[in-house]
Amino acid sequence: MIFVTGGAGYIGSHACVELLMAGHDVTVFDNFSNSQWEATERVQRIAGRTMTVVRGDIRDVQALQSALRASKAEAVMHFAGLKAVGESEAEPLKYYDNNVLGTLRLLEAMVACDVKTLVFSSSATVYGIPESLPYREDHRLSATNTYGMTKLVVENMLRDLHRSDPSWSIGILRYFNPVGAHSSGLIGEDPQGTPNNLMPYVAQVAVGRREFLNVWGNDYPTPDGTGVRDYIHVVDLAIGHVKAFDYLKTREGCIAVNLGAGSGHSVMDMVRSFEAASGRAVPFKVGPRRAGDLGAYWADASLAAELFGWRVERGLDRMCADTWRWQSMNPDGYKGEQ
Ligand code: NAD
Ligand code: WQD
Repeated sequence: MIFVTGGAGYIGSHACVELLMAGHDVTVFDNFSNSQWEATERVQRIAGRTMTVVRGDIRDVQALQSALRASKAEAVMHFAGLKAVGESEAEPLKYYDNNVLGTLRLLEAMVACDVKTLVFSSSATVYGIPESLPYREDHRLSATNTYGMTKLVVENMLRDLHRSDPSWSIGILRYFNPVGAHSSGLIGEDPQGTPNNLMPYVAQVAVGRREFLNVWGNDYPTPDGTGVRDYIHVVDLAIGHVKAFDYLKTREGCIAVNLGAGSGHSVMDMVRSFEAASGRAVPFKVGPRRAGDLGAYWADASLAAELFGWRVERGLDRMCADTWRWQSMNPDGYKGEQ
């Protein structure tokens, strides 16, 4: 049994599908602060198997401990957290409370229930300003915003915990830019309000919910001047979690591993691919750079290949085609269902 915090969210829901399909039993623990119950129903529909879903907050010690104990979990995958960089700058305490205190409570509950295998959702943001590219796992760590700092604090907490008790098996997975959706079109990213990230914004322009895309800067030292990122299909990312668990279950340790494609694409690459996949125009206007943005970064993805036998299989075309299927089948996200 795998206990999945944040399993109703964008990445967690895709991970639940892959875990169920790989034969694992799953308990989701989510407070639905940024997700809908419907997502968990659809996960079970896709996988053709049931899972347990518990509504609860990881900071609620009693609810968390009783759910973890009842699940008889052998491992935890910890996706629950807040992820909006701009909001984290405006409301830092909310981010420390949810992401840092929430993880502390989760680790205490794991100790109490003697569960010592953990997969944690970290982010490429912990590398800060690139000293060299691609980012390797041994790149210096730093944070340029509060969200990134919460990930860095948790990473340090996990390394300290493992040093104190080497019988833990901890996988810190540093995601690059997750995009795309399940090929069924039943689950995908469902941002509330105006999307912060490129792909959901492009999708909403294509479907007619927004007039045009703001391209934030075309004067970066990149081939076409727009920002370059390492986009990774969310299903590849989800499969990476199943493989990471397979690796961790027989080994003690605390390892940090990049999950990325290992190559970069620009904002204009994304716009053109999305137009081709959707057959719709994506009008855009070039504006100034977004504060805090880096010009370009991408992963060295070789450690995940070496340790987990994992590499991405879905390119930009699939990322755009699957996002478009999800967006056009669910123009108002999961809310259209209610
Ligand atoms: P998401 O917001 O879609 O999913 C997070 C889930 O956690 C939601 O279902 C939310 O309701 C739940 N949650 C939040 N706080 C909770 C709490 N206190 N108790 C219980 N449940 C809680 O986000 P996502 O994109 O699926 O991201 C999952 C994880 O991956 C996050 O930790 C995020 O920081 C990390 N991450 C995301 C990205 C990205 O670009 N999406 C990149 C790198 C890392
Ligand atoms: C991608 C590119 C923008 C929107 C963020 C977090 C990071 C991680 C992933 C969680 C950039 C450009 C974007 C738009 C644009 N999350 N852009 N117009 O900033 O690389 O990463 O999400 O861990 O921590 O910082 O992703 O999708 O916002 O931007 O031109 O409307 O698209 O400038 O070059 P980012 P993004």
